[in-house]
Amino acid sequence: MKRFRHFAYFIEAFVLYLIAIENVSPNVIGKKESESTGNLGLYNASDHVVILNATNFKSSVYGSNSSWLVEFYNSWCGHCLRYAPVWKDFSRNILAWRDVVKVSAIDCADDDNNPICREYEVMYYPMLRYFSVDLKQGSLGLVIEKGKDVSTMRHNLVKQLEIEQQEGRGSTWPNIVPYRKSELESIWKAVKSEIKYTFLIFETPNSYVGSSVILDFQNVHDMHIRRVTSDNELLCVTAKVTKFPSLILLQRDGSQKSLGIKAPTREGVRKSIQEYMSSVGINIEMMDTMEEYPEDNSKVGENDEKQESGGSENFPDKFGDVVFQLDLEKALRYSIAHEIPLSKMIDREKLVALKNYLSVLATYFPMQQTGVVYLSTLHDIIKEKRNISGADFRRLVVSTEEEMSPVYSGNLEWIGCKGSSKIYRGYPCGLWTMFHMLTVNFAVQSFKEVEYNPAKILRAMYGYITNFFGCAECARHFAEMANRSKIFEVKNEDDNILWLWRAHNEVNERLAGDATEDPQHKKIQYPGAKDCSACRDENGNWKEDAVLSYLKSKYRYEGINFYKSSIKSKEEAGGHNVTKIRKERLVSSSFMSSRKLGWDFTIFDISICVVLYVMSATILILVCIKFAVKRGYRKKPYVHSFFGRV
Ligand SMILES: Cc1cc2nc3c(=O)[nH]c(=O)nc-3n(C[C@H](O)[C@H](O)[C@H](O)COP(=O)(O)OP(=O)(O)OC[C@H]3O[C@@H](n4cnc5c(N)ncnc54)[C@H](O)[C@@H]3O)c2cc1C
Ligand SMILES: *[C@@H]1O[C@H](CO)[C@@H](O)[C@H](O)[C@H]1NC(C)=O
Repeated sequence: MKRFRHFAYFIEAFVLYLIAIENVSPNVIGKKESESTGNLGLYNASDHVVILNATNFKSSVYGSNSSWLVEFYNSWCGHCLRYAPVWKDFSRNILAWRDVVKVSAIDCADDDNNPICREYEVMYYPMLRYFSVDLKQGSLGLVIEKGKDVSTMRHNLVKQLEIEQQEGRGSTWPNIVPYRKSELESIWKAVKSEIKYTFLIFETPNSYVGSSVILDFQNVHDMHIRRVTSDNELLCVTAKVTKFPSLILLQRDGSQKSLGIKAPTREGVRKSIQEYMSSVGINIEMMDTMEEYPEDNSKVGENDEKQESGGSENFPDKFGDVVFQLDLEKALRYSIAHEIPLSKMIDREKLVALKNYLSVLATYFPMQQTGVVYLSTLHDIIKEKRNISGADFRRLVVSTEEEMSPVYSGNLEWIGCKGSSKIYRGYPCGLWTMFHMLTVNFAVQSFKEVEYNPAKILRAMYGYITNFFGCAECARHFAEMANRSKIFEVKNEDDNILWLWRAHNEVNERLAGDATEDPQHKKIQYPGAKDCSACRDENGNWKEDAVLSYLKSKYRYEGINFYKSSIKSKEEAGGHNVTKIRKERLVSSSFMSSRKLGWDFTIFDISICVVLYVMSATILILVCIKFAVKRGYRKKPYVHSFFGRV
């Protein structure tokens, strides 16, 4: 009986364990969901841009009977915001070509798309990849130049489509390769017998008019269009063409006729064809979406609904110019759980950058106890590595986070860095805030390190920005600025703070009035007079001492605002909890080695213990049953009843 009670205890423990495991997953899923819905992307259904995601990406671009142009973008990246209207215009401009090529986009800022963006080696945004018609799985597609405006993009695409056809792909597409023969009769061989009209567009070899018109009319089945280039001299002579572009109509009876062109453009040629066809009673409807739109000058995000405000209209003003714990934590999480894992492989310079970054975070990033241990653990593990893939780093980050959950002190959302619309601010704002906070606390905290280096924070930041930051243009600017203003030659910790302050103001100056500027948060030379009147003299020149003390009081731990963070409730328990966090942090790091054993037990380890326990207990039970059965045989024939009596 005793053995069975033991077994019952054990089963109970096992069931509890299962329940515990069950309870972990909904949490994790809940977090993921809020994260992906938080990123609404830059496109919606009305934009004629196919929205791809991790679920439909591969099934769309591979083995398709059209080719695909994919924009890999990032919903917070300034260049992507500026590029989105161009991409929308482009897709609208070639909407009639959609059976030949699909224009699409995928948001790499969405956590769910992380594996896809890593796999396709998207190292800057926006990045365009072209996937050929009927492409096999495994190809990464072809990186295509962005092109500064819609017509350049269309030309680049036409070039690509022409190559495809010359290489024998896209056999169902209309033929955009120039007609090479010198006689006109054989042109009818490729034409269905019911088609009565063939148009020839004569143009110079580097013109895109012919191909564009052919593609525009690809779904019109009453006529046939080919292009002829001016280097086909024989045919030009036969057709008596001397001016390019020219439009010649051929009919089955062998007659040919030169049609006037109103303007030597895609629209002009299209119109001439349309008018001729309508004169013979065939009306060709053109989609209005195809009209050449004037270059889009509309402000980015004009049509985007404002964020659900919930009284947060002038929200940050209510608190003044402060740092929010949740902004810091959200930037941290996006950076380590999303942005770093986008790298395919982290080694060499990248790995050095990662180690420096984690080292700085583990020492200076203010978090609650579990968070501090979490960062130290990541740092300790990465410190020993010689390389790690982005995917493995992501697994490490996520599993460590689950294990030590809750690491973050609230539901991560932007507070101070929230934009007036979903497309503004967010992550880059969070990242600036985090690095300012780090430079200040590096200077303010009294714990001096063994290997003292005044540029420590800036070095970590430089490494992060140039190796991992998703905004490649920003990184290029930053590296250029670092070089010019001698980032690594800062003399002391205060210099660290001021260097970053100046650098940030330089960026603010460049971006003032830019399309990415949030109208409710103008780029100012910071700090503004409203927040720090003492920071400038009567001539408006900076008083750096005053600036320094302003920055110190804003960004130091004691200044952090815990709005919506669970740390706030600790505060109610009394005391300066920030200093308390720091103390805990220091205590925990000095005891790290002795505590390590405890933290090294992962869910996996525990599972193994449980499994072993179950197995040995089962064997024990089986032996026991066998024993009992043997004895029972003499008294009662059924094992069944034996259990029945228990
Ligand atoms: C390293 C880096 C380089 C970037 N380079 C570019 C670029 O080249 N092109 C581009 O389009 N975007 C760039 N960005 C993004 C851009 O700087 C902004 O982050 C983004 O436009 C969001 O702006 P924001 O209004 O939220 O304020 P941010 O500029 O992000 O500032 C965040 C907060 O920091 C505080 N702050 C502002 N200025 C200072 C200062 N001088 N010192 C201390 N605190 C300050 C303010 O409280 C402000 O609200 C870069 C971002 C980073 C992190
Ligand atoms: C991906 O997009 C498809 C089609 O828009 C949608 O049905 C699906 O739910 C999306 N998947 C994810 C994970 O968002």
